[in-house]
Amino acid sequence: MKNAIIGAVAACALAASLAHAAEKTKAKTDATALYKKNCAACHGAKMQGNPGMAKVFKLEPGLLDLKGKATAEKTDEALVKVVSEGSGKMPGYKKSLSAAEIAAVVAYFHPAAKAAPKAKPETKEPAKP
Ligand code: HEC
Repeated sequence: MKNAIIGAVAACALAASLAHAAEKTKAKTDATALYKKNCAACHGAKMQGNPGMAKVFKLEPGLLDLKGKATAEKTDEALVKVVSEGSGKMPGYKKSLSAAEIAAVVAYFHPAAKAAPKAKPETKEPAKP
């Protein structure tokens, strides 16, 4: 019983911090607008992938699904890299979007990464040359 209460409290705290994080992101950049403008054509309005586009590209429709397990299991860093550099038929966005915009748009479709505990604590490493 005690555990259930602790669990509920933790879940509330997590929800509150997630809502807070979402607000902060929104204040800086409107991720919804960015997504709709740049990504929805291929990845679908609901991030489920656009089957018509998959056909045009001759791809598995699942490849455009940003809500699927395969994407959810990837790290934010890996997804930011794909969006920046591009991959296969996916265009890179580092020329058209700022790093903050790319981070915001990744957080928009990939909230799971924010909720999951970080694998290792963030340590400040000196920038590599
Ligand atoms: C012209 C169509 C197109 C547009 C526009 C597009 N994508 Fe993609 N995206 C793709 C394709 C195709 C893939 C699969 C790439 C591959 O084969 O590796 C992909 C893959 C991805 C992946 C990798 C998913 C995974 O699980 O590995 C991410 C993340 C992604 N796109 C995000 C975005 C975001 C964010 C935007 C908008 C800024 C965007 N895409 C715009 C076509 C597009």
